[in-house]
Amino acid sequence: MPIRPIFVVAGVGNATGTGAAAARVFANAGFRVALVARNKDHLEKAAADINKSGGEAAAFPVSAYTYSAITQLFDDIKKHDWGKPNEKAEIRAALWNAGSGIFKTFLEVTEEDINDSVQNNIVAAFAFSRQAVLTFKDNEIDEKGRRGTLIFTGATASIRGNVYTSAFAAGKHGLRALSQSLAKEFGKQNIHVAHAIIDGGILTDRSLQRRSTPEAQEEFKNNLDVRLSPESIAESYLYLTNQERSSWTWELDLRPAHEKW
Ligand SMILES: NC(=O)c1ccc[n+]([C@@H]2O[C@H](COP(=O)([O-])OP(=O)(O)OC[C@H]3O[C@@H](n4cnc5c(N)ncnc54)[C@H](OP(=O)(O)O)[C@@H]3O)[C@@H](O)[C@H]2O)c1
Ligand SMILES: *[C@@H]1O[C@H](CO)[C@@H](O)[C@H](O)[C@H]1NC(C)=O
Ligand SMILES: *[C@@H]1O[C@H](CO)[C@@H](O)[C@H](O)[C@H]1NC(C)=O
Ligand SMILES: *[C@@H]1O[C@H](CO)[C@@H](O)[C@H](O)[C@H]1NC(C)=O
Repeated sequence: MPIRPIFVVAGVGNATGTGAAAARVFANAGFRVALVARNKDHLEKAAADINKSGGEAAAFPVSAYTYSAITQLFDDIKKHDWGKPNEKAEIRAALWNAGSGIFKTFLEVTEEDINDSVQNNIVAAFAFSRQAVLTFKDNEIDEKGRRGTLIFTGATASIRGNVYTSAFAAGKHGLRALSQSLAKEFGKQNIHVAHAIIDGGILTDRSLQRRSTPEAQEEFKNNLDVRLSPESIAESYLYLTNQERSSWTWELDLRPAHEKW
């Protein structure tokens, strides 16, 4: 029976950022896509859009990024009926893209902020990684020497703390450490684990609104020299997923051409 690979992406927001771009790019490359996020309506719409453009995507909403919700998620994805009984569906790639960004001065950071960052950036990512690894372990090794690829979206805060990012950087540093440990442990089982440092602003509806003036918004939207496009990041994720086992990237560092930080 032919195998149709599934790509699981967690953190799709309202489908204007990296998560949704990755879903579209992987769908175009022949993956079925399992979309995961907290807002059911946005998810259903994103899945329907991919279906309309010739791909196959299904929505798997979670109530929150908790250990138990993420653990349950993989069972739901495996049980999903993709409607093609002559094709075997196998999860071959997974992206942990959800990220809880907290930007406050250190003295403003509350216990709740810290919990939020640790919960969303680390605890839930542990659950996601565990389920992805358990799933990949059951896969046969493919022609490029892999059972599966697990990718994490990082940020400047993954490697550098700064003013306003104490809580966020603690979470993203933890995520990076997790990905490095996983790469060491599961490379030996032909599971490719990669971490991407997104070192700059990504153009999304939400990040656009964070720019304080109309001029700054114009610049961020139209000047490709100063920010990252979700689609370009997604192309790099597909590239990681296509690497063969003799030269795997653990860490990728992506930044716009006119980086100045
Ligand atoms: N935007 C930037 O400038 C930028 C720069 C560098 C790195 N990054 C990282 O890139 C990744 C993708 O971000 P994106 O901006 O392109 O947006 P995105 O892919 O549309 O979505 C990011 C996801 O993070 C989740 N999220 C956001 N705030 C959260 C919170 N407080 N608690 C729990 N989950 C939260 C959202 O989950 P739901 O879908 O459930 O709402 C959202 O789907 C994130 O990991 C982010 O840290 C972003
Ligand atoms: C898209 O199509 C797939 C089957 O190819 C189906 O499983 C999924 O539920 C559909 N999603 C939406 C939102 O229509
Ligand atoms: C933060 O998490 C700890 C440990 O789970 C819990 O005891 C505490 O009540 C939480 N604090 C807040 C403000 O949510
Ligand atoms: C996405 O969210 C942002 C801010 O939360 C909002 O301004 C924007 O209109 C939303 N976009 C879509 C397509 O829903």
